[in-house]
Amino acid sequence: MKKPGLGDVLPACHPCNETIELLKARRSTPADFLTEPGPDPETLSSILEIGARVPDHRRVTPFRFVVFEGDARQRFGEVLQAAFVANEPTAEPTRIDYERNRFMRAPVVIAVISSINTSHRTPEWEQILTSGAVCQNMLIAASAYGFAAQWITEWYAFDERVLKELGLRGNERVTGYIYIGVAKEDPKERARPIMKDIVTRY
Ligand SMILES: Cc1cc2nc3c(=O)[nH]c(=O)nc-3n(C[C@H](O)[C@H](O)[C@H](O)COP(=O)(O)O)c2cc1C
Repeated sequence: MKKPGLGDVLPACHPCNETIELLKARRSTPADFLTEPGPDPETLSSILEIGARVPDHRRVTPFRFVVFEGDARQRFGEVLQAAFVANEPTAEPTRIDYERNRFMRAPVVIAVISSINTSHRTPEWEQILTSGAVCQNMLIAASAYGFAAQWITEWYAFDERVLKELGLRGNERVTGYIYIGVAKEDPKERARPIMKDIVTRY
């Protein structure tokens, strides 16, 4: 589909059984079960664009992306290793190796950064929610393109040393690392909310 231009009339809805099927069976694939290949450059750009096409109150764009592919994953591994060892100096070498290789688990990792405009009248809460929606859009887009994915934070979404290396500013946090690849093995269903426990009618 051609990218809509500003002001173009768009369909108000997109009836699509395949979308419903996808959403009803949507499942994350744990990063440890991901492998090559990842999306090609055009598909990755599209996943990023779909990620950015989220409900965003007053168009703040309270998010940005850092993409890791190829050698960048290994370079970032050095950062992860240094931060991990600083936190846990007595860690076993096998564990340190695991930490260094975290981003090697998938061909592509996208860090989704929540980037809050603190002086904007759109509440911070809403800006944060928007960056969560970005992550979900990306998972759905990746799945529809035929890729498996997982939204992860793990310790390195919160570690000060890692965040500094990522270039995060004071108004920024990691909403998630979106790992994208193909599944080594299909995931199994997990327990889901019991709808009657969470739905009431007013
Ligand atoms: C903000 C956020 C952070 C998450 N962080 C982790 C994580 O660090 N490690 C993990 O195994 N799953 C994490 N998850 C959960 C997975 O993304 C995923 O939801 C879970 O594996 C269950 O799979 P499902 O999406 O098929 O229900 C996180 C989810 C969210 C929304």
